[in-house]
Amino acid sequence: MKVTVFGIGYVGLVQAAVLAEAGHQVCCVDVNPKRVADLQAGIIPIYEPGLSALVQQGVAQGLLQFTTDGAAGVAFGELQFIAVGTPPDEDGSADLKYVLAVASTIATHMTSPKVVINKSTVPVGTGDKVKAVLTTTLKTRQQDLQFAVVSNPEFLKEGAAVADCQRPDRIILGTDNPWAEKLLRELYMPFNRNHDKIIVMDIRSAELTKYAANCMLATKISFMNEMSNLAELLGADIEQVRHGIGSDPRIGYHFIYPGCGYGGSCFPKDVQALIKTAEQTGYNTQLLKSVEAVNNQQKHKLFGFLQQHFAGDLQGKTIAIWGLSFKPNTDDMREASSRVLMESLWQAGATVQAFDPEAMEETQRIYGSRADLKLVGTKEAALQNADVLVICTEWKSFRSPDFSVLKQQLKQPVIVDGRNLFEPSRLRELGFTYYAIGRGD
Ligand code: NAD
Ligand code: UGA
Repeated sequence: MKVTVFGIGYVGLVQAAVLAEAGHQVCCVDVNPKRVADLQAGIIPIYEPGLSALVQQGVAQGLLQFTTDGAAGVAFGELQFIAVGTPPDEDGSADLKYVLAVASTIATHMTSPKVVINKSTVPVGTGDKVKAVLTTTLKTRQQDLQFAVVSNPEFLKEGAAVADCQRPDRIILGTDNPWAEKLLRELYMPFNRNHDKIIVMDIRSAELTKYAANCMLATKISFMNEMSNLAELLGADIEQVRHGIGSDPRIGYHFIYPGCGYGGSCFPKDVQALIKTAEQTGYNTQLLKSVEAVNNQQKHKLFGFLQQHFAGDLQGKTIAIWGLSFKPNTDDMREASSRVLMESLWQAGATVQAFDPEAMEETQRIYGSRADLKLVGTKEAALQNADVLVICTEWKSFRSPDFSVLKQQLKQPVIVDGRNLFEPSRLRELGFTYYAIGRGD
C-alpha cells in the first residue's frame, strides 16, 4: 500500500521503517530540512536499536523515501499518517499546532480521497478539530473529496521502538468509517498474524485510551516511589516489597521499579495534558495531580542524598554521574532526571563529570560548553578525582562495575544509586557508603 507519514521523529521514522519492512511504500515528510537531508544521506537523526539497518534496507529496496515537499507527500499515499510532536503549551495542555498544520497541508493539496490517521498523542476531541480543518479547507477550495479521520495512537517505548512497532501488543483504531477501517486492517495485516490485535472503537475513546495507558503507567511508578520513601522511613526494603507485591498477578512486576523519577517526552507531558483536559471539563483530577507532584519531588531525591552526605556543602565538589538519558538505550534527554540533578549541583557550586553511552552529544547540545560540566569518554574516566559517584540511568554497562577501580578512583567510597542496581549489604561489605531508593542505610 502507499502510505505518507508526516513527522520523521521517534514515532514517524520507526513506524515508516517498519511499514516499509512489511512491504508497504512509504513517503516521509518533515518540515526540518536538515533532518530530511540527513536521512537522504543515510544519517539517522536519533539513536534507536535496529533502526539504522531497517531504514537503510527500506531505502535500498526503494520502499522508503524522505522529502520536505508536503504537496508531494499528500499526492503519494491514500493513507496519510500524522506523527508530529504535541509538546506541552505554557499551561501544560497539548499544543496542537503541528497536528493542525499537517491537517491543513493535506486539505490544501489533496486531489483524491484520503484517510487521515492521527498517530500523535492528542487530547480527546482532536479528531473533530482535524475533521473541521479538512471540511473547511475543502469547502474553500470547492472540492467535494471523500476523507476519513482515524485515531491510531502509538504505544512504542523508546529504546525498544523498532521491536514494539514490529510486534505491537494492540492496534487501536478509533473510527466509525468502514472504508478507513478496511484499509487500515489491510495495512496492519502483517502485524496482526497470530491473534487479532486490532481493537476498533470510537475516536474519542481511542484518544483517551492513549492518555489512560500512559497515566496508568506513570501512576504505578509514582506509587512505588511513594512506597520507597515510606520504606526508608519505616526501615523496610522496597526491593523486597516490590517482589512481594509483583508476585500477585493482579499487580504484576511491570513498571513497579522505584527510581529517581520518570522522565522522557511522554509521561510528564501526557499526565499534565490529561490534567488540563479534565480541568476544561470542570473535573479535578486529584490522583493525576499527585502522580505529577510525587514525580517532581522524586527527581530531587539524588540531590537530597548528596546534600545529606556533604552536610549541605557541595561547593567545589566534583560529582561523577553515570547515565544522562531519561532511560537506557536512547539518547533522549527530554525531562531526564539527570538534568534536575545537574542543574541543582551547578547551583550548589559543584562540578559534574559525566558519562553516558549515547546521550553525550545531546547533553552538549542542551548545555553547551561550561566549566562545571565535563563530559568524558568512558565510565572510568568519569570517576577520576571525583568525590562520589551518582547513577542516574540503568545502562547495562553500569550493572557490574569493578568495585576496586571505583574505590581507587573516587575520593570517597560513596555511591548514590537512582536505579537500585546493587545489593546494599554487598556494597557495605566492600566498604562503600551506598545511598539507594527505598533501601534504608
Ligand atoms: P519528535 O519531536 O521526535 O518528532 C516530530 C517531528 O515532526 C519532527 O521531526 C518535526 O520536525 C516534525 N514536524 C513538525 N511539524 C511538522 C509538519 N507540519 N509537517 C511535517 N513534519 C513536521 O516527536 P515524537 O517523539 O516522534 O512524537 C510524536 C508524537 O507521538 C507525539 O504526540 C508523542 O506524544 C507521540 N508518541 C511519542 C512516543 C515516543 O516514544 N517518542 C511514543 C508514542 C507516542
Ligand atoms: C512510554 C510508554 O512506556 C510507551 O508505551 C508510550 O508509547 C510512550 O511513553 C509514549 O507515549 O511516548 P517511554 O517514555 O519511551 O515510553 O519509556 P518508558 O520505558 O515508559 O519509561 C518512562 C520513564 O519511566 C523512564 O524515565 C523510566 O526510567 C521510568 N520508569 C519506568 C521507572 O521509573 N520505573 C519503572 O518501573 C518503569
